[in-house]
Amino acid sequence: MAIIIDENKKIFKLDAKDSSYLMQVSKQGYLYHVYYGAHVSDNDLDHILQLTGGASFSPSPADAPELSLDMLLLEYPGTGTGDFRVPALTVKDTRGASAVCLRYVSHKVIEGKPALPGLPAVYLNENSEAQTLEISMEDALLGLKAKLYYCVFEELNVITRWVQLENGSAENLTIDRAMSACVEFLTADYDMLGLYGSWARERTVERVALRHGTQALQSRRGSSSHQMNPFTALCARDATEDRGEVFGFNLVYSGSYLIEAEVSQMDSARLVLGINPYDFEWELEPGDVFTTPEAVLVYSSEGLGGMSRTFHKLYRKNLCRGQWRDKKRPILINNWEATYFKFNADKLVAIAHEAAKVGIEMLVMDDGWFGKRDDDHSGLGDWKVNEAKLGCTLRELVERVKAEGLRFGIWFEPEMISPDSDLYRAHPDWCLHIPGRPGTLGRNQLVLDLSKTAVQEYLVESLSAVLHSADISYVKWDFNRNMTEANNPDLPAAKSREIWHRYYLGLYKVLEEITSQFPQILFESCSGGGGRFDPGMLYYMPQTWCSDDTDAVERLKIQYGTSMVYPVNSIGAHVSAVPNHQTMRTTPFQFRGDVALMGTFGYELDITKLPEEDLDMIEDQVEKFHDYHPLIFHGDFYRLINPFEGNEAAWMFVSEDKSEALVQCFLVQNRPNAPARRVKLRGLDPEMRYKVEELGVRMHGDSLMNAGFIIPDMWVCGDYQSVCLTVKRV
Ligand code: GLA
Repeated sequence: MAIIIDENKKIFKLDAKDSSYLMQVSKQGYLYHVYYGAHVSDNDLDHILQLTGGASFSPSPADAPELSLDMLLLEYPGTGTGDFRVPALTVKDTRGASAVCLRYVSHKVIEGKPALPGLPAVYLNENSEAQTLEISMEDALLGLKAKLYYCVFEELNVITRWVQLENGSAENLTIDRAMSACVEFLTADYDMLGLYGSWARERTVERVALRHGTQALQSRRGSSSHQMNPFTALCARDATEDRGEVFGFNLVYSGSYLIEAEVSQMDSARLVLGINPYDFEWELEPGDVFTTPEAVLVYSSEGLGGMSRTFHKLYRKNLCRGQWRDKKRPILINNWEATYFKFNADKLVAIAHEAAKVGIEMLVMDDGWFGKRDDDHSGLGDWKVNEAKLGCTLRELVERVKAEGLRFGIWFEPEMISPDSDLYRAHPDWCLHIPGRPGTLGRNQLVLDLSKTAVQEYLVESLSAVLHSADISYVKWDFNRNMTEANNPDLPAAKSREIWHRYYLGLYKVLEEITSQFPQILFESCSGGGGRFDPGMLYYMPQTWCSDDTDAVERLKIQYGTSMVYPVNSIGAHVSAVPNHQTMRTTPFQFRGDVALMGTFGYELDITKLPEEDLDMIEDQVEKFHDYHPLIFHGDFYRLINPFEGNEAAWMFVSEDKSEALVQCFLVQNRPNAPARRVKLRGLDPEMRYKVEELGVRMHGDSLMNAGFIIPDMWVCGDYQSVCLTVKRV
């Protein structure tokens, strides 16, 4: 049983595989956090509760003079009543007063997992996979009711959390902050790991020690962002890639978010995560309910690697949905870096013709096929095929590509509008805007206001019309700027700060409608590369274009960082031309192919201009992709050598039954007389005997993992070398 309750002492124990999470209700009704970590057998751990109070400058509640909320570890702390640390909840009453303190009312256990209305969320394939604890709390003075949800996975080290707030009073309440979860730690001896970045430089791994005061990772951009992914890991100081305690946190949300940690005066640490309270407000009229996005909590005693593998498992089977979740994805060729805006049907068919010869399976027509769109200054919003530019109808083009033996995919950027577009001329008020204030442009475009029903309907209609008009197998859904003038003038002033979240409720509604209307289509999300690589988008679309940086050297880091949270089969990765368009670097074709194998795999180059030897290489790479696909797509992923730390990278994929593995090693720059580089494998069965085919050696799993082997050859072949090694049970 995942949830164990001591009804007398009001202790809640959540057992998620190897981890336990404990809470206890105090006699005054406060919900204390007791413990989160490796599994413990006892329910009653109240000897570790930090029940102190009475010190100057840490006030005590009237009914508990011996305590101070400022010192306690609390499950869902409010504000204004003596806890001065970062809160989970801030609420204003009609007079503008801001104080809230929740007390326990009741609880119940739900078999399975309730849905989060209108929001993407982790789901169950079988009800027996998880139990959910619902703890009802209230602030009786405000008339605010809160339900705290804890969904506990029996077979995974996963607990997911979210909160539902209901206005049970007769007057309006305003939520200023409603985090999805607050997690307390009795001690603060952790490092905080985050994934920061920029356009074309996403998800750089950074690990810093928690220190007194607050530390925040966040986005205020109206998207989960390139700049900081909605993820953090608190790592025990001695935790490594393979060993030690790590607590991973990820928000199932695509908008602005906040992850904030505070180390207190008592050296405890509090971490909250949820919608960014910056510029946020949500008005609750009497009877209204507000649901926060879901936070995913992962426990690992096997370092960062163990944490990542748990996220990967959960997201592969309990987040991504639809027909394509478990299906082999077609090897695609995208025309963006091949042609940019300059193409017509003949050019695309010529690409398809060459691509078919080497085993590529799908052609994706990127930006530039609609409205007036020969550069990025116009056309967004006009989702009508530009037949004059293509030289034929979309259906004719698709049929010609199919006749070459390839399926057809198409690009959209539905959430945007160009000021130079028919849509803007017809509906200048459909974008996010503040009347009288000029709209700030990003890539010459404005953001449509997806909180508006008319906009949602327009998108569903116009996109569906295109998707119905031809046999389309794939959609790339792009989003190429962040939000400014985030405002919907139709909303009353008291609701105007709701726009950031209303936008995402609108987007999720549109995504739900379109993806369920076209279940056969494979959707890939994109935001100038990986600016919205988050679990919210993965719920609707099982893969995300990882970065606009297609340089293979850069990709080693970007993909390594992305793998901290997101499964390899969700990482969009392509082989592109050299000199690379982002870095001007020239790397060998094989190196580019091996890097792109760690992902969904495809090409993004003008195949009609490739020399014969590169075309031969594509054939080899396509074969390699098919050979290794089951391992890469379904296997467990182990990071072996960190590209952020040096000149090499290595990782491996291991089959579930541990009978097979693929090891990939990469050398960035060669050095003369370089020392031998040893790699130790991971995840094998220590007692199983394996053959490393390319090395011709036969060894037990324990030898390969403890002694490892010297990476062959690479160091004699120049810069940018890679090897793939196949490990098979003998
Ligand atoms: C974004 C995407 C690219 C490409 C362009 C088209 O930058 O990330 O892959 O689709 O838009 O404009």
